[in-house]
Formats: sequence, structure tokens, C-alpha cells
Amino acid sequence: MPRDSGSDQPQKREHWASKAGFIMAAAGSAVGLGNVWKFPYMAGENGGGAFVMVYLPIVFTIGISILLAELIIGRAAQKDPVGSFRVLRGRAWPLVGFLGILAGFLILSFYSVVAGWTVAFAAKMATGMLNGQGADPAAVFGSFISSPMQPLLYACGFMVVAVVVVLGGIRRGIERANLVLMPLLFVILVALVGRSLTLPGAMEGFTFFVTPDFSKVTGATFTAALGQAFFSLSVGLGAMITYGSYLDHKQNIGRSASSVVGLDTVAALLAGLVLFPAVFAFGVDPGAGPGLAFVTLPSVFAQMPAGQIFGTLFFVLLSIAALTSAVSLMEPVVAYFMDQHGFGRTQIVIATGVAAFVLGIPSSLSMGIWSDATLFGMGFLDLIAFVTSSIMLPVGGLLIALFVGWVMGSRAIAELKGNGDTPPALARAWLFILRFVAPAAIAWILIKELIS
Ligand code: TRP
Repeated sequence: MPRDSGSDQPQKREHWASKAGFIMAAAGSAVGLGNVWKFPYMAGENGGGAFVMVYLPIVFTIGISILLAELIIGRAAQKDPVGSFRVLRGRAWPLVGFLGILAGFLILSFYSVVAGWTVAFAAKMATGMLNGQGADPAAVFGSFISSPMQPLLYACGFMVVAVVVVLGGIRRGIERANLVLMPLLFVILVALVGRSLTLPGAMEGFTFFVTPDFSKVTGATFTAALGQAFFSLSVGLGAMITYGSYLDHKQNIGRSASSVVGLDTVAALLAGLVLFPAVFAFGVDPGAGPGLAFVTLPSVFAQMPAGQIFGTLFFVLLSIAALTSAVSLMEPVVAYFMDQHGFGRTQIVIATGVAAFVLGIPSSLSMGIWSDATLFGMGFLDLIAFVTSSIMLPVGGLLIALFVGWVMGSRAIAELKGNGDTPPALARAWLFILRFVAPAAIAWILIKELIS
């Protein structure tokens, strides 16, 4: 068996060492701030169970189909996102890959800023700054994110760690880190759920999260749920094309995709079961928005027995989730420059890390000294987050669905079947979703969003 370990040899493509390694890496990409930070606060703002009931069907139809479509593109072409479209079709389609790589880079820039906050809060929790006598989490959070230097130092530290992982390449870097960090993440998550659900008064939060109140479902709920599904599953920009390109043809790719989507969904639901029972048990507002994890939750930990330990664990969990996702935002950019321009991994990983950090500076400052500089009523971080997750990812997902559904068509089905046992009815349902359901749903939601 050939061993491809040389990380600076663009000719010879590295492959995942094991199926479990690939699934952990893809799940590590999917499970991120989107699950543990954003999903609970979006559910909190959108009626709890009502949001979950809209979110889950989207994930298990459109979401899983596009994730599988990306893996198929990558595995078939064995290239970065731009190169993959070139190999499979050429002409204008590689533009989809460019759009994706740009989106990945933009997301990485602000993602590392928020990830820096989580690392900082892990430290603040551990040292008791957030739950000592009279500690005020809202004030701590507010003054931390609005200070110019501190958040940047944490963002820089976080980026350095992500760079170190990606420098190691596929097997020794990304796969190995995920094989350690993902099981750890789930252990912490389950421990926190246990703590939260056994608090007196936890039932009310549990009920809020699992009981759909359909009067709360509006058009906006669908827009929010679709955007969240794309972001959470890491689809729409070619991250899964890139990870799929490190697969060989031996595996049943349909089953792997289901595992990844399953793990991502379980992680989001477990995060909800950490947040809501705790938040309701202490009678605070579940609709606090982005501050839910950083302000509401620390105030809950401050009142809880052994809150300092559980609070620290929570922010360590968030930091791990963020790291394995950030790595997957960097890799498509890296793969592109290695595959298409012959760069060595080392050069391009460092260049990408530095550039994304520099672009993150205005995002970070937009929370403080630059908060008055707004465009369309949004600060820099909010604007980039909006343009990427509400526009670029859905557009990317739409085009990927059309490409696999119509351009690849029967070739995609052949790729899916491979040597495997995918039931023909499922394969047909998948193609139908890619051809009709996903494009129509995404187009409808995009149009609604842009005219509102
Ligand atoms: N899925 C990650 C989260 O939930 C974020 C992420 C990582 C991502 N890679 C991506 C989003 C690629 C879109 C595309 O936090």
C-alpha cells in the first residue's frame, strides 16, 4: 500500500487514513459555533420547539442532499473546489468554486474572532472572573469584546492553533486532531446536559425546546432555519468538496454523509438541552440572541453549584468545536492554492492564516471602537456574517444542487452507488431533491430575503 504522507507534494494526493477519521473530520467541520452558540440562540428567538420543527426537516432533506452532493463532487474529481468543477465540467462552473473559497476565507476571518471570545471566556471562567461575588457577565462580555486589543490577541492565538493543525496535512494534522477532539467534545457535551437537566426547574426549559408552538412559525422562521442548516452542516462553499476529495472510492459515501448529518444534529440538540433547562431553571430570558451563551449562561453558572467547573467546561467545548470547524474553513483555500497553483502546504497555510487574521481585525473592532461604522445598518462583523451565511452559502448550495442534479445527473448516481448498497429509491429521491426541491426552496427563500 502506498503511503502518502508528504505534505508538500502537490502531485500526490493525501487520503484519509480511516473511515472513522474522515467522519470525525467532517463532523468536526460541521459541529461548531453554529451548533453550540448559534443554534440555541436562534431557537430561543424563534419560539424554541417551533424552530426545531422547521429546522429538522430542512436538514434531513435539503441539507443532507447538498452535503452528499459536495462529497460526490470532491471524491469524483479528487481536487480542490475550483479544480473539481474544472475536472468534471469546465466552462463557467469553476466560478462556483471561487465563490466558495472566497466565502470560506471571509467566514474564517470573523469566525476566528468569535472563537477568540470563547477561548477568552474559558480562561475567565477558570480564573473565577465570571462568577465571583458580584461578577456581572454582561459587563465583562461588553467590555471585553469592545476593547481593541484583548480580543485580537485571543483571535491571533486561536488562528495560530488552527494553522498548526492544518500545517500537519490531512492525516497527521486534520484527521488526528479530530479523532482526539471530537470524542472529547461529545463527552463534555453529555456531561453538561446531565448537569443542566438535573437542575431543579429544568423541565420548563425542556418543554420549551421540544414543544412546537406553531403560532410562532412565520416566513422568517424558514429563512433563518435554512441559513442555519447550511452554516451548521458546512455546506455551500466547498468545504465538503475538499474533504470529499481526500476520500478514495472504497467507502459507502451515503452512509458516511448520514453519520455526519446525524452527529451535527445531535450536537445541536444536545446544546439546546444544555442551554434551555439551565436558562429556565434560573428564570432568565431564552430570547437573548447572540448574548445567550456569553452573558445569559455565565449568569446561570454563577448561581449553580460547581458552576465554575461546568462553565469552564462549556467554553472549552465551544473552543474545541470552533477549532475543528476553523480548520475546515482554511483547508479549501489551502487545497486550491496547492492543487491549482502548485504552492507548498506550509507557505499557503501560513499566508491564509495571516490574511484571515488581518481581515478579522475590522470585524473585531466593529464590536467596540468602530461600532459606529455601519453599512446597511450593520457593523463589519455582522455584515460579513450576513453576506456569507445568508447569501453566499445559499447561492453556492443552489448551484451545487443544480450541478450535481442536472450536469452530473446519472454520473452522480453511479458515483453514489459505487461499490455500495444504496437503495435505488433513495438515490432517486436524492436526485429529485437536488434537481427540484432544493433549488426551488433556496431560490424562494433568497428572493424573499432580498426583497424584504
Ligand atoms: N459548520 C460550522 C459551524 O457550525 C462552521 C463551518 C465550518 C462552515 N466550515 C464551514 C460553514 C463551511 C459553512 C461552510 O459552526
